[in-house]
Amino acid sequence: MKRVDDFRLRLGSNELVPIMVGGMGVDISTSALAVEVARLGGIGHISDAMVHTVTDRRFHTHYVKDRLKQYKFNVGNLDKSVVQFDLGQLAEATRLHVGSTMEAKRGPGLVFMNCMEKLTMNNPRETLRVRLRSAMDAGVDGITLAAGLHLGSFALIQDHPRFLDVKLGIIVSSLRALQLFLKKNARGSGRLPDYIVVEGPLAGGHLGFGEDWREYDLVEILAEIRDWLRAEKLDIPLIPAGGIFTGCDAVKFLEQGAHAVQVATRFTVTKECGLPDDVKQAYFQADEDQIEVNNASPTGYPMRMLKGCPAIGSGVRPNCEAFGYLLDASGRCQYAEAWEQEKAKLSEGQKPAVRTKTCLCTHMRNFHCWTCGHYTWRLKETSLREPDGSYRLLSVEHVFRDYQYSVDGRIELPSPG
Ligand SMILES: Cc1cc2nc3c(=O)[nH]c(=O)nc-3n(C[C@H](O)[C@H](O)[C@H](O)COP(=O)(O)O)c2cc1C
Repeated sequence: MKRVDDFRLRLGSNELVPIMVGGMGVDISTSALAVEVARLGGIGHISDAMVHTVTDRRFHTHYVKDRLKQYKFNVGNLDKSVVQFDLGQLAEATRLHVGSTMEAKRGPGLVFMNCMEKLTMNNPRETLRVRLRSAMDAGVDGITLAAGLHLGSFALIQDHPRFLDVKLGIIVSSLRALQLFLKKNARGSGRLPDYIVVEGPLAGGHLGFGEDWREYDLVEILAEIRDWLRAEKLDIPLIPAGGIFTGCDAVKFLEQGAHAVQVATRFTVTKECGLPDDVKQAYFQADEDQIEVNNASPTGYPMRMLKGCPAIGSGVRPNCEAFGYLLDASGRCQYAEAWEQEKAKLSEGQKPAVRTKTCLCTHMRNFHCWTCGHYTWRLKETSLREPDGSYRLLSVEHVFRDYQYSVDGRIELPSPG
């Protein structure tokens, strides 16, 4: 019986353990987590989501405070178009976050950055340009383009000196999305992506499916994309993601022609993961019926979450002057609009409770939006229960090695004591 370790992922001159830990914003897949995965020979991801608040926390910068001070006059205004991001500061914060991670990197693996297009930041094109280019300046090994079709993303960086050197990949959930991406990006830039993450309906975070997500199957989507690439004579590594819970699940995909797997949920209960410990315990404790796919995200994409998390039904005032990562090109956010509508129904002093949307910026920043993969309810199988009823946190090394060496569907528990 084969193990993940019997396979290798080749990306350029790199030979890697075929395990990629997916990006989990906001700072859930921390630098420490990504660096540890690279040390073990795989690919780790940091995320550039809400990079200002991440650097404020890590390096005691005060981007968010300064921004709020600058735009406080607009807090009561539904029109947020005035609340722009300073592109110089965005570059600085990205370079700090990515550069410090790359300095800490050791060992044979790689560290990539997950870059979500849907973080439109009130100026989608220019902010995305700065995010991508600053990460490349700061020495990132690769960038995974996520949460969006990224039809113009290569054009934003094709004159960057590292354009051919940085590994560039895209996350898609359908052949159609991949075809569009290749048509728009490869033509102008003369460059193909170095890898394609095929994310199925069981993943955490935002989903590339509608309400009918249950009707899709990762095995089928992967096979369709693999066959099309073969017919087109395109040799691009394929990396399935979503619901790959054990090393044996991974081996099935590797035998089906995948070059690596992308996983995330199993790493949410590691010490290196950025979630607070009580949230990690909530993930461990979750039962299957507590996990839902809802439309609360103002991005418009469905998102998988734990039902009881504080982000759902909260009526927090929109924080676009401090954050504003989801403001579209005309300064609007679906949550801010939903909040305003709820407020209009209430009398003075009453607090709105918004059930339709969530203030994703505020809640991700505070780790109150508990997004998770479908198999979060199985995390309790992966650890030991302490006498006080809590579950033992794992190390990234333990979970990574379990994927790498597991056979017969077994999950290695941490050693007792
Ligand atoms: C807590 C959490 C946060 C996530 N955040 C992001 C994100 O910010 N961007 C993204 O592209 N994918 C995100 N994902 C998706 C993962 O990167 C990954 O592709 C997927 O969850 C893999 O499936 P698995 O969790 O079943 O292993 C997130 C997943 C989880 C569990």
